[in-house]
Amino acid sequence: MPENDVPLVVPVILGSVRDARRSHHAARVLHDRLEAAGHEAPILDLRELDLPIFTGADEQDSHPGVVAFRAALARSDASVWLSPEYNHAYTGAIKNAIDHVGDELRRKPVAACGLSGAGHGGIRATEALKAVLIEMRALPIRESVHFGDARNLFAEDGSLARPEFNGRVDTMIADLAWHARALRWARATLPLPDRR
Ligand SMILES: Cc1cc2nc3c(=O)[nH]c(=O)nc-3n(C[C@H](O)[C@H](O)[C@H](O)COP(=O)(O)O)c2cc1C
Repeated sequence: MPENDVPLVVPVILGSVRDARRSHHAARVLHDRLEAAGHEAPILDLRELDLPIFTGADEQDSHPGVVAFRAALARSDASVWLSPEYNHAYTGAIKNAIDHVGDELRRKPVAACGLSGAGHGGIRATEALKAVLIEMRALPIRESVHFGDARNLFAEDGSLARPEFNGRVDTMIADLAWHARALRWARATLPLPDRR
């Protein structure tokens, strides 16, 4: 199979754990578009994974949620991180999840997507999140999707009330997949620099 057709594994990290959350609708859109493009796209729901607050204690490494989260990232080619904007930042749940990660994201592309009740769609959250993901030695891509006006963006059944968002998601996925393929080849082929 030509490299361009090989399906990728691209988890969607759902960074909202709030009872009445809306971000799960956006996560479903991201998942569906990734699958439509032929990729495997498990949703890693931080509410379900119920990660403990990071303390660095050894026993946290065997917590089932931590084990599942890290294993899913380890087998990924790329990932999409979705966070609503809370108080001008990404969620505490996302930051806690990242603090549990080791080198599973290293030299892999990542996309940061935002959501907010306001029209901007959480851009302050995504910009800040990209900076943090760089510290994981991940490679954030430029493209993001910002799900603004979240109260009106999704119908009761969770479907998009504004289908043009599908096109924005597809553009981001195409760019992420290009980087994922390039970096997968590079990780397998090119020697690493001295400072890894
Ligand atoms: C604790 C909290 C803080 C928020 N802070 C902001 C904010 O700083 N800027 C903004 O545009 N919206 C803010 N909002 C609105 C959220 O972006 C909006 O409610 C969105 O639906 C939250 O995502 P969720 O439904 O998945 O939790 C905040 C909401 C909560 C619950």
